[in-house]
Amino acid sequence: MPTLPAPTLPQGIRYLPDYFDRAAQAALVEDIRRVVEAAPLYTPAMPRTGKEMSVRMTNCGELGWVTDKERGYRYQPTHPVTGEPWPPIPQALLDLWREVAGHPWPPQACLVNFYSDKARMGQHQDRDESDLSAPVVSVSLGDDCLFRVGGTKRGDPTLSFRLRSGDIVVLGGPSRLAFHGVDRIYPATSTLLKSGGRINLTLRRVTASG
Ligand code: SIN
Ligand code: FE2
Repeated sequence: MPTLPAPTLPQGIRYLPDYFDRAAQAALVEDIRRVVEAAPLYTPAMPRTGKEMSVRMTNCGELGWVTDKERGYRYQPTHPVTGEPWPPIPQALLDLWREVAGHPWPPQACLVNFYSDKARMGQHQDRDESDLSAPVVSVSLGDDCLFRVGGTKRGDPTLSFRLRSGDIVVLGGPSRLAFHGVDRIYPATSTLLKSGGRINLTLRRVTASG
């Protein structure tokens, strides 16, 4: 699997291709299947406009990231549709955080994004967390996507690369607030998910640590 030469990535972004082997990916999919059983995927809406996002979402952890027309982007301890607390973060993801985050405190939230073939995610910053000293750790499962990352200002030059199943991206340090998004999914590029599509998991620390 080709590795991007480190200098091409903005400082603070780590790309760890092939971090999870196929067996570990399959085990993670099982974990996420159980999360989705307890906390079903739902279609989030953009603040103010109420425009539906093309990804479906859910969360695990003590807090989950949600958005709707009325109240906008936020973290909350319960699922917006069922009203139930989010299920716990699977152990394999807690282990991943410990291995790659370089942060003393565990993640509080894991956002689960499901992309069907046509879904995408516009360029944005992850900035709803009050503790920005912890990185965001991202896991890709299933079909490939074209990931695009830039600087901390909208309009900064961007760089695109393909994320594959099992790859990890860490946005930390000077790139903690880097703009990033998913321009497209490459359908049928993985056999991991029986019905295709892509799952992205992002682990976050939300409140000030300690
Ligand atoms: C996100 O920024 O929440 C998702 C990124 C990705 O799907 O790789
Ligand atoms: Fe993000």
